[in-house]
Amino acid sequence: MLLFTTQNELVSYLNSVSKKETSIGFVPTMGALHQGHLSLLEQALQNNDLVVISIFVNPTQFDNATDLAKYPKTLDQDIEKIKAISDNIIVFAPSVDDIYNGKTVSTAFDFGGLENQMEGKFRVGHFNGVGTIVKRLFEIVKPTNAYFGEKDFQQLQIVKKMVEKAKMSVNIIGCPIYREPNGLAMSSRNERLSEVERKEAAIIYKTISQAKDLFKTKSAATVSQFVSNTFKKHPKFELEYFQIADEATLLPCIRKSNAKKYRAFIAVFVNNIRLIDTISLN
Ligand code: PAJ
Repeated sequence: MLLFTTQNELVSYLNSVSKKETSIGFVPTMGALHQGHLSLLEQALQNNDLVVISIFVNPTQFDNATDLAKYPKTLDQDIEKIKAISDNIIVFAPSVDDIYNGKTVSTAFDFGGLENQMEGKFRVGHFNGVGTIVKRLFEIVKPTNAYFGEKDFQQLQIVKKMVEKAKMSVNIIGCPIYREPNGLAMSSRNERLSEVERKEAAIIYKTISQAKDLFKTKSAATVSQFVSNTFKKHPKFELEYFQIADEATLLPCIRKSNAKKYRAFIAVFVNNIRLIDTISLN
């Protein structure tokens, strides 16, 4: 395992070892690694000559200062988890200054409207922050393939759109959601839940799975009403949004069409901790 904490060191290392035909697999993360992140790493290892993982809590994508301050930072444990998978992974864990050079601001992006739905509505500026850091990291690492989880499906679509618009030569690969045994999608934020909350948070996946079944015969509006009623019965869990959307445009489903692929998206607060999940519907 090799650890680099500045972009200059990483770039000179990569320049020294990679030839024209070397494929570089890249997994960007904010650390506090769990099995979901590690499944992305494993996929990258299978398909590339070199694998780089970045660990960087990106300040420009947080719309909430408390959330940023409370974001878990566990670099030593993260490194142990990476080492347990392979000795050949390159870890890039830069400081905020190394990346932003004293100016922690994001660039404004046009993601063709994808940024105006769901997470974009509720976390103002979030996707400009994601676009800024992902573009920066791509410029530094110059990956052949970059791996993103479907857990953050909107982010995955937005990164694909950014790459397409900027004509960047990187393949964006979406990876399935890794779940805890009770169905809760793995997330670094789960660490902040109490044992009881973590158990009870199974309701999120359970409800969207029921929504999937219901959507086979009912309209998006009826399914949304069902989800909203379910969370009203569990006041510990505050529903921020539930949306059934077209996977390609992320626009809400008003009238079902057999030609479209739909997906349900949900964001829920438990004791001020924000959890998101998503499920493909057809
Ligand atoms: P982070 O939340 O650390 O997630 C890093 C990557 O792991 C993302 O692509 C995310 O979708 C994926 N991931 C998280 N939980 C997962 C799970 N349970 N199963 C499968 N994949 C999962 O997403 C970010 O960081 C940041 O926005 C980043 C892209 C690094 C930019 O700062």
